[in-house]
Amino acid sequence: PVQNGQDLRSPICCIVGHADSGKTKLLDCIRGANVQKGEAGGITQQFGATYLPAENIQERIKELTDAKLDVPGLLLIDTPGHKSFTKLRSTVLGLCDIAVLVVDIMHGLEPQTIESLNLLKKGNTDFLIALNKVDRLNRWKTCRNAPIRKAIMKQSTSVTEFKMRLTKIITQFKEHGINTALYYKSKKMGKTYSIVPTSSISGEGILDLLLLLVKWARKKTMIERLTYREKAECTVLDVKVVEGYVASIDVVLVNGVLHEGDQIVVGSVLGPVVTSIIALLTPHPARELRVKGRYLHHKEIKATQSQCIKIAARGLEHAIAGARLYVCGQ
Ligand code: GTP
Ligand code: NA
Ligand code: MG
Repeated sequence: PVQNGQDLRSPICCIVGHADSGKTKLLDCIRGANVQKGEAGGITQQFGATYLPAENIQERIKELTDAKLDVPGLLLIDTPGHKSFTKLRSTVLGLCDIAVLVVDIMHGLEPQTIESLNLLKKGNTDFLIALNKVDRLNRWKTCRNAPIRKAIMKQSTSVTEFKMRLTKIITQFKEHGINTALYYKSKKMGKTYSIVPTSSISGEGILDLLLLLVKWARKKTMIERLTYREKAECTVLDVKVVEGYVASIDVVLVNGVLHEGDQIVVGSVLGPVVTSIIALLTPHPARELRVKGRYLHHKEIKATQSQCIKIAARGLEHAIAGARLYVCGQ
């Protein structure tokens, strides 16, 4: 049994869903930034990781709960919804502990929603559903950053449309063998997946989403799953090549420890590359790995300290996103 948070790593939460359902915008809303605006055509081309420290999350949701997290924080990973990224989506879903499936309330289930759903079922991955873009309901009254029940109580005419669309989407999920319900109506009978209505534009429901993630991270079964293991488990999310500089890779460290100077093996298009770590870098908390800025340098990083890491090393130009990284001698 865990006495304190020292031996726990952060849960890895992956955001999946159809293109333009609002995954990146939802993450922006959670971390209070604007990555989505800086993306070419608003399309996510890469996988982005954001680390939210526990104190940051607790402060945000104190209106709803005084529950404390035992885990150091939460690692959120954005994924692109475009259909050409199926393989990488499946890799990321394979390493996450929980997922948020984003569904556009105006569109219901779309091809990549269903693809993600099938991957989640196959991997037996726990997930929540963010029913996003509620602000687009006809005559929605904005209740900026309000808990969703409060926001729904303030509505008049849009409630009918909300209920109609919600019922339709619950039926669509049922057709795919998944029972869903609004999280605050969810009965404890059988497996029911929670729906959280959200708006990433005006922020309704974002606190509820964080609350559910906290509740989930506090579950006993999850605490066991999040107990730190020494053997390095590491996957490449992204490869960065800047002319004149040593190439770098963004990785997710699920378990284990990395040191400056460690010899590593990484899958590349030319076969496995053996190299050693020149620099271990992390972004500042609540900043995303994709956003350029100042990094913190480390001599060593344990998965309980940080799980989204940038590694600079020679020969990584052809590394493959989605490949496993192995530490030699382990
Ligand atoms: P991909 O990365 O291409 O898969 O898209 P995405 O799911 O990350 O969607 P993104 O966050 O880029 O949002 C797509 C569009 O929907 C943008 O124009 C957003 O501003 C808009 N959008 C996202 N969330 C909301 C929302 O809650 N309400 C409204 N009205 N618009 C939203
Ligand atoms: Na988009
Ligand atoms: Mg996106």
